[in-house]
Amino acid sequence: MSLRILGLRAMEILDSRGNPTVEVECTLSDGTSARAQVPSGASTGRREALELRDADPLRFGGKGVLRAISNVETELAQGLRGADAEDQTDLDRRLIELDGTPGKSRLGANAILGVSCAVARATAISKGIPLWQRLGEISGLRPCLPVPMVNIMSGGHHAGFNIELQDFLALPVGLSSFGQSLRAVREILYATKEILAERGLRMTGVADEGGWGPDLPSNESALEVLTRAIERAGYRPGEQVAIAIDAAASHYHRDGAYHLQSEKRSVSTPELIALYESWSRRFPIVSLEDGLDQDDEAGWRELTARLGGKMQVVGDDFLTTNPARVRESIGFKTANAVLVKMNQIGTLTETFEVVRLAAAAGWRAVISARSGETEDSFLADLAVASGAGQIKVGATARSERLAKYNHLLWLERDCGLAWPGGGLLPPVPLGLVGGDPL
Ligand code: PGA
Ligand code: ZN
Repeated sequence: MSLRILGLRAMEILDSRGNPTVEVECTLSDGTSARAQVPSGASTGRREALELRDADPLRFGGKGVLRAISNVETELAQGLRGADAEDQTDLDRRLIELDGTPGKSRLGANAILGVSCAVARATAISKGIPLWQRLGEISGLRPCLPVPMVNIMSGGHHAGFNIELQDFLALPVGLSSFGQSLRAVREILYATKEILAERGLRMTGVADEGGWGPDLPSNESALEVLTRAIERAGYRPGEQVAIAIDAAASHYHRDGAYHLQSEKRSVSTPELIALYESWSRRFPIVSLEDGLDQDDEAGWRELTARLGGKMQVVGDDFLTTNPARVRESIGFKTANAVLVKMNQIGTLTETFEVVRLAAAAGWRAVISARSGETEDSFLADLAVASGAGQIKVGATARSERLAKYNHLLWLERDCGLAWPGGGLLPPVPLGLVGGDPL
């Protein structure tokens, strides 16, 4: 007998910033039930599917999600009652139709994604298979472990705009297992802390994704500190551990210019591309995300032409995990990799479609969490099932991040999954490491 959806319930829970978010519980016809929690971004792209919030200033400063909760328990529960839980594609299509808007703005992408994920998890439990395997059945992609792309220092929206660039990350491109990679980035996180303390840089707590949010004198100094931290932790920069940047450039782009206050200048698109180029000659950078504004299409084309041969040019706010946007970008050569965030688009089916498009075009894909996360480890299974080979979850601190990393340690041990590791990204020529000391 086929597995049917019997009921859906939802709860307004809190995320890692203490803001309300959605958790959905799905119960199937065989009595199995399971829950999934939905993350929430702070540095969002203009074209993301809509995260429905109540806008009632008297509750959580307007951030409540009671409307999304109610949509799950009424319209979605009624609309999906009796639906085949094993046909995720049809289920997600029905979710999209029930909403009826292009940006999932009527019922909310937070409500819809919670249902999409909760049904997948309940189905995995009912079938007696691990979640990554169930997601692999849905994706049709070859599973593998992901290399962690790990936040070490934060700026921008995630750390009170101490510096403009949002994320300085360590990417262990040349280590032989997930466990070793995780250990390396943890050691680099603490080596960074030591270096920052030696230089007398003020630090209070950690930033939204668990990394440090120091008062650095410039964006460039973050690259210099991170390179030294990789060395201090005992790894060869560029060969064993490289650097990734998430510039999140839309957030300081105004009136046609990028305003780098900590660099004490405003730059045009060609000047910013030249700055990235000069950094890439001095620091072991292998990945650059949102290097330009989300609407600077011509700039993205130029950026990809100039830097795409030696690094990942990743679209996050630029592509918003949107299959149509990704297809267009492949055609116009405006990027060569995509950041994949489930809640930017709102269903599992569309999320996997983006990964499949990327794979078919020879692009890379990075499965990513949001800065507002939960203790749900779903993303670890998603990363494995997508075969993307990279996961971006934040630092090796804060339990909403560790829920994913710690789950991956078990998957590595138990599931015989391939490790994409060494050779994942273009090697950075040695001897490029360094920069002006602070
Ligand atoms: P967000 O940022 O989750 O706050 O939108 C993460 C990122 O830009 O990658
Ligand atoms: Zn980003």
